[in-house]
Formats: sequence, structure tokens, C-alpha cells
Amino acid sequence: MLPWFQDGKFPLYLAPMAGVTDLVFRGICKELGADVMVTEFVSAEGIIQADDRTRKYTEFDDGQRPVGVQLFGADGSRMAEAARKIVNWKAPEFIDINFGCPVKKVVSKNGGSALLRDCPLLTDVAKKIVEGVSVPVTAKIRIGWDTDSINAPAVCRMLEDVGIQAIAIHGRTRAQGYSGEADWDVIDQCAQTVSVPVIGNGDINSGEDVERRQRETSVNGVMIGRAAMQYPWVFREAKHFLKTGEHLPKATIEDRWALIIRHTQLALDWGKFPNEKLTLMGLRSRYMAYTKGMPGGKVLRTELSTVGSLAELQDIAGKHMDWLAEQQAASQKGASAVEVV
Ligand SMILES: Cc1cc2nc3c(=O)[nH]c(=O)nc-3n(C[C@H](O)[C@H](O)[C@H](O)COP(=O)(O)O)c2cc1C
Repeated sequence: MLPWFQDGKFPLYLAPMAGVTDLVFRGICKELGADVMVTEFVSAEGIIQADDRTRKYTEFDDGQRPVGVQLFGADGSRMAEAARKIVNWKAPEFIDINFGCPVKKVVSKNGGSALLRDCPLLTDVAKKIVEGVSVPVTAKIRIGWDTDSINAPAVCRMLEDVGIQAIAIHGRTRAQGYSGEADWDVIDQCAQTVSVPVIGNGDINSGEDVERRQRETSVNGVMIGRAAMQYPWVFREAKHFLKTGEHLPKATIEDRWALIIRHTQLALDWGKFPNEKLTLMGLRSRYMAYTKGMPGGKVLRTELSTVGSLAELQDIAGKHMDWLAEQQAASQKGASAVEVV
């Protein structure tokens, strides 16, 4: 059994998210309580060709362990070769195989969720990777291709049979994309079908959600994606809630701005992009996620959509906090309440 499931531990995974869960964001989530991390997916071919961009995607530091590197592809032998290369470079605790990606570019080459429709190929890919590397191999799947072909329990059995050591299940079909709700009944059925740990994934937004899934299903851990992208404190709050049944106070606007600025500073130090302007441009979608639900968000997001330097970002943060303080003072005097966009 993977050590982070031993003795009834119930790990909180940070979901792999392409373009989001890079070295910096993973580090932030780890500090805030995420137990296990998986890199954003990388193509086996990118690894074999050792291109710089792919290396950046797989970068992590020791503080983030246990870490898995996620691979996608449709050729088991090439993927096993890529997996060996990563193990030699970085010694991650595990390799994770992506059998869930719904994106056309991946699916059209038979990668990601396309393999849910081709179980012989899916088992071949999984088996070759398991046999090809010295570290444990895990998998991430969706519940099926579409509502007429929900096959996750059968897929889980096949994956277990070829030696996959844990399975994360996003409770949607490929056809659903991100719409509708995750089907936790199917996730639960999977968890009851196999003896390897199953990590439930889909629509977890709070400690209460984690507690409910732990209580109502047989999953051995949960994975959090979009909620963490907007509010990485979700891990800390969930852990506290699981332990005490009580809620921690929410992160304040000051906390949120401090995090945005720190994230930016760390990204600049890391040098993912060649200069300050490109770094800030690369972070714009992170800013949009971090500021979702903040008062005055509409104006804020317009400003953030053109921000090009750390100084400018600090200026926007300062102005926003001043504006909020003014709004609060005014509302205390009985004037209009703070607009929430
Ligand atoms: C922007 C974005 C990028 C994603 N990239 C990946 C990926 O690289 N690999 C993967 O297995 N899943 C990927 N996913 C799916 C998530 O890991 C997760 O399964 C999904 O968001 C459902 O969980 P949630 O409801 O907690 O967000 C991505 C999701 C989002 C929103």
C-alpha cells in the first residue's frame, strides 16, 4: 500500500491541472495542507525528446513530496520509456497515467479518456508502464466515455489486475466535460470493487464536502482541483474541519492579495517565463481565479487583464484594499453596501 494511505490516512490530493499546477502553485498548496501532488500532464514524446518546456512542467522540489508525474499517450512502450526517464531525472514517488483528459487534441491521438473506449489498449499501456519502472504507478480516469458507456468499475478492476497501485476517479464522463455534477455513486462503486485505494474527485469545495464523501463513500482519499485553483486555503480548512468539526476563519482579502503577490514573486524567481512582463501575462488566468468572488471583482479583473509588472500589481492590490476600506467605512455609516460582483 502506498505509504500515504497506510494506517487509515485519508490524503487530500491536489488535482493535476494543466497550466495551473506548476512548481509554484504546487508549493503553495503544499504549505496550505495538500498531502499529495501530481504534476500537470506531460506527453511521453515531450519527455523522450527532453524538451525544456516539458522539463519545466515536471519540476518539483523535495518539500512537495510525495509527488507523481502524470503522463499521457497511447503507446505503452514509449510511455514506459518516458516514465523511466522521469524516474532517473527526478525520482518522483510515483508515475500517474492520464486516462481522463477529454481534450480533442489528446483524444484524437487515442490518449487520455479515449482509452476508456479501448480497454485492451488501456490495460496494455498500464501494464507496460508498471513493468517498465521501479516506482509505483497510479492512474486517473473518468467514469466512462459517455452516459451509455459508464465502465469505471470494470476499468478499475483491469487496472488493479495489471498492478496499478491507486486510482483517482473524476466522477464525470468524457462527454460531460466539466458540466453537470460528478457522480459519486459510481466513484463509490469503484471503491467497493477494488482493493487498491480509490481517490474520489469532482466538485469538492470545502471541508464539509470532504467529510461527507469520507462518511458516505468507501473512497480512501479525495482530490481537489478547481476549488484549490481559486482558493488554495481549502486544504487547510478541510483538514481542520476533519479534525475538529469546526470551521477556520476564511482567508481575508489581505491574505488573498498577499498570496497573489507572493505567487507572482515566486514565479519571477523561478523564471518560468523569460521576463517580468511575460511572467505577469502568464499569470493573468491565475489572477482571475484568485480574485473570483472578491468585492469589486469586475473592475479588478479588467485592471488585471493588462497588468505587466509586479509594481503595477502591488499598486492594484493597494488601491483595491483602500477602496474596500472606504466602502466598509461608508457602509458602517449607513451608506451603500459593498458591491459584490
Ligand atoms: C484547467 C484544468 C486543467 C486540467 N488539467 C488536467 C491534467 O493535466 N490532468 C488531469 O488528469 N486532469 C486535469 N484536469 C482535471 C482535474 O484534475 C479534475 O479532475 C477536475 O477539475 C475535477 O475536479 P474538481 O471538480 O475538483 O475541479 C484539469 C482541470 C482543469 C480545470
